[in-house]
Amino acid sequence: MNTDAKNLFTATEIHGLTLRNRFAVAPMTRVSAAEDGTPTETMARYYERFARGGFGLLITEGIYTDQTFAQGYIHQPGITDEAQAQAWRPVVDAVHRHGARIFAQLMHAGAISQGNRFRDTSVGPSAVQPKGNQMEFYYGKGAYPMPAAITEEQVAEAIEGFASSAARAVAAGFDGIEIHGANGYLIDQFLTDYANQRSDRWGGDTRQRTAFVRAVFEAVRAKVEVPVGVRISQGKVNDFTHKWAGREQDAEAIFGTLAEAGVSYIHVTEHKAWEPAFEGGQDSLVALARRYAPHVPLIANGGVGDAARAQEVLSAGADFVALGKAALANPDFPNRIQAAHDVAAFDPAILGPIANIKPIELAA
Ligand SMILES: Cc1cc2nc3c(=O)[nH]c(=O)nc-3n(C[C@H](O)[C@H](O)[C@H](O)COP(=O)(O)O)c2cc1C
Repeated sequence: MNTDAKNLFTATEIHGLTLRNRFAVAPMTRVSAAEDGTPTETMARYYERFARGGFGLLITEGIYTDQTFAQGYIHQPGITDEAQAQAWRPVVDAVHRHGARIFAQLMHAGAISQGNRFRDTSVGPSAVQPKGNQMEFYYGKGAYPMPAAITEEQVAEAIEGFASSAARAVAAGFDGIEIHGANGYLIDQFLTDYANQRSDRWGGDTRQRTAFVRAVFEAVRAKVEVPVGVRISQGKVNDFTHKWAGREQDAEAIFGTLAEAGVSYIHVTEHKAWEPAFEGGQDSLVALARRYAPHVPLIANGGVGDAARAQEVLSAGADFVALGKAALANPDFPNRIQAAHDVAAFDPAILGPIANIKPIELAA
């Protein structure tokens, strides 16, 4: 093992929780729950492989948080009642058996919900037609419907959904909570200039648009004692190349606000984690998060597929590197790196035609 690889394999803490190394599995929706949102045996076996393969931390796929507007996809898992929460136990136990930790990613789809068994309509910060098209590999088709502007009561319900789901997740054995504030879902819709046109306390300039993520964080924080982090991105599943109009000032507003709020960690995701965040700029989003949230543990994600890149991202200021596609191709990525074995290339066929977990993934 060379000196660089050593750094990736040192243990460290988030909010008092020790993680055995710097490798995390990025959250990935695999639409493999039962139709009623309960996790399945297939999912337990799927997550177990990453723990056995040496990852220190697994972040689950986005889990919906209430029985009104949160669900985004058919066969997405939820954690909205005791039955769903108890069905997560075998997943958590399987991961713990191999010495890894697992955080529940809590997600409200908002305006880009494309499959919700509780409602036929969607809500967003404002009645703004989402860009892009629904994802076919999650059973969607065509444009997103026009959402209704979420009411004050519905905002309160959504926040309560995050908080009570977090409490159920901890009771089911999860080691931490990740609030999904990225990739175009409800929290990111509130953060986004064009999606949030509100003039009440949930809208305004960039700092004012962080009101909703702060409220969600505070409600979750009040319910649980485990690490509670927030995932942040510029790009969205329905608007890949979106950039913050205020550039570094927006980064300062968003990361600075999260640091002030006391989040346990920030998880940033970009297409390529090491590239400059803004055209003509120098700094990556990793570097900007490090600058404006200097003491907050930082997970970085995006395009990392080998040890050298992982090390580079740590050197830019991250404490952990989260792998998505590289983890799908190599559920034992950390063990392979440690043994100086080659890593396999990602085969997109795994995610088609539907992104559900395939038998071939569980065969090894
Ligand atoms: C099949 C699939 C499902 C995903 N689902 C989620 C999700 O539920 N929550 C989330 O925050 N990101 C999700 N992502 C984004 C990944 O976490 C990650 O940001 C992205 O794959 C880029 O990282 P990579 O280059 O390491 O794959 C998903 C990505 C893929 C490929």
